[in-house]
Amino acid sequence: MANAPLTADDNVIDYLAAHERKGLMRFITCGSVDDGKSTLIGRLLYDSKLLYDDQLAALESDTKKHGTQGEKIDFALLVDGLAAEREQGITIDVAYRFFSTEKRKFIVADTPGHEQYTRNMATGASTADLAIILIDARRGVLTQTRRHSYIASLLGIRHVVVAVNKMDLVGYSEKTFREIESAYRTFAEPLGFQSTAIMPLSALDGDNILTKSSHTPWYNGAALMPYLETVNLSAVDESQPLRMPVQWVNRPDLDFRGFAGTIASGTVRPGDEIVVLPSAKRSKVARIVTMDGDIQEAGADMAVTVTLEDEIDISRGDIICAGNAPAEQTDQFAAHLLWMAEEKLFPGRQYLLKTANRIVPATITELKHKVNVNTLEHMSGKTLELNEVGFCNFNLSQQIAFDPYTENRRTGSFILIDKRTNATVGAGMIDFSLRRAQNVHWQDLDINKTARANAKHQRPCVLWFTGLSGSGKSTVANLVEKRLHDLGRHTYTLDGDNVRHGLNKDLGFTDADRVENIRRVAESAKLMADAGLIVCVSFISPFQSERRMARELLEDGEFIEIYISTPLEVCEQRDVKGLYAKARRGEIKNFTGIDSAYEAPEHAEIDIDTSNVSAADAADAIVSHLQEKGYFKL
Ligand code: ADX
Repeated sequence: MANAPLTADDNVIDYLAAHERKGLMRFITCGSVDDGKSTLIGRLLYDSKLLYDDQLAALESDTKKHGTQGEKIDFALLVDGLAAEREQGITIDVAYRFFSTEKRKFIVADTPGHEQYTRNMATGASTADLAIILIDARRGVLTQTRRHSYIASLLGIRHVVVAVNKMDLVGYSEKTFREIESAYRTFAEPLGFQSTAIMPLSALDGDNILTKSSHTPWYNGAALMPYLETVNLSAVDESQPLRMPVQWVNRPDLDFRGFAGTIASGTVRPGDEIVVLPSAKRSKVARIVTMDGDIQEAGADMAVTVTLEDEIDISRGDIICAGNAPAEQTDQFAAHLLWMAEEKLFPGRQYLLKTANRIVPATITELKHKVNVNTLEHMSGKTLELNEVGFCNFNLSQQIAFDPYTENRRTGSFILIDKRTNATVGAGMIDFSLRRAQNVHWQDLDINKTARANAKHQRPCVLWFTGLSGSGKSTVANLVEKRLHDLGRHTYTLDGDNVRHGLNKDLGFTDADRVENIRRVAESAKLMADAGLIVCVSFISPFQSERRMARELLEDGEFIEIYISTPLEVCEQRDVKGLYAKARRGEIKNFTGIDSAYEAPEHAEIDIDTSNVSAADAADAIVSHLQEKGYFKL
């Protein structure tokens, strides 16, 4: 097959990478459908005579039926066949097309355009050697061009071809081309690509695709295909240290214990000393087993099973490293993050961070700066929006093994996943571990939570009241604390309005500030539970993610979610503080229930609607619940 579309996890890619790495170039095309991206890829395949006769015949007849280019062959149809596959429910974020010429083999990651393009681009780019960045000659260098280039550089792509396409539509004007060329070079200089070739093309007419075009006699550079065939890619760095994430432990019988995975970087041979992270246990490689028998050496991208000389405990997700150059381990690092979701990034919110081998809960503790993709300047900001890039500090709930992205693209990259929707929301490149992570250790104290709680004859817990403003949270929480106090319990109440006078004085009511508000309160409540207290927390806490984060900060059974589900109409009618009226008049922005969201709990332990139940009865019910569940005895 000359140019069959392969999916991301097709074995052919591994096969090719492993066996034919030398002559192989991976590239991506960046640009939108309007820039002529599909046409360009179609043209490359067509002109290189890489299509079979039957594909050609189909293309010609499709062109007659659906083509948008009159009598000319519509190459985009060739590539857009993928769209049809997508419609049939086959999910292809990125389709890999394989084609080869006499000089080189190519894998092009065809990343569908449209709004979500950076997500697809990031997926395709993380293994690419070169990026073709398309520019419509009529439109010149756009923000999108700059963004693609910046992201390509961030993702470690060293070579760029700027395809100034649709030259036919500007009369093959040298002046237009030179202006674009100079604007692009000025912008891209700081990105430090190893090579940047800028070419005047017409994908539709075939100018400067396979051979030099007579329409551009003033252009001294190479045509696209010969250039792609000869551009000097730095060879794969064989000297990179071994990294092999363990995908599974193969133990068919008691005599064999192999660790299977795809080598991310470096090489491995029997006798090599290795160290396994995170345990830091050491051993030597005994055998390298493959489907075709034992081999003496394996390198990057090969899927193998290794056995070790010693019986050491290794599980899925561990990473086997070269003994003399292990990866670093950390739970705090700084990284560049490309945000790929419609919903903004919230520092303080917990996401799942997925590396080559592990998934761990993570929060962005600080957005240090955003990058303006037009000027590459650093800007301050509280959040990232779709397609923005920021430099952030991360805090993980457990250590991961990693390498800086500039040293290893596989073990230095990660994606962020939204816990609630399971969607990929960001792609990250790790820069460095934060030194404070190494210097701040957990201090074990002799008097612990159990000791403190025992002294008070109670089980600590957090009663988390959530609901709209005016729903009755604080009233009920106040009564609950009074009853508990009368019963001799040790308590404390954290109330939104009060905490916002001190600890959280700096926070307002934007979504981002509310996320941070709840993060601080959850951490405070955790400390109070650690002090052995029964803690009432009364905050609107409108987002499920943060309430869930609070729940997960505490031990099982310590977090009791109490949803004060009084309907908005009732809260608004009460309007004790007159805030609803102000919000309706537009004098307060982002008011919960009016122009700011409230996500109701789905699995609250207790649900009370104070339009049906009196505050006193509600408090009694909560105190009885605590007693029944054994949080304290009378
Ligand atoms: S939260 O959403 O971040 O959890 P929190 O419980 O701390 O909110 O604060 C809510 C209280 O702040 C409300 O009871 C109300 O008195 C006051 N408030 C002032 N502005 C707003 C607003 N825009 N939205 C909600 N509450 C507000």
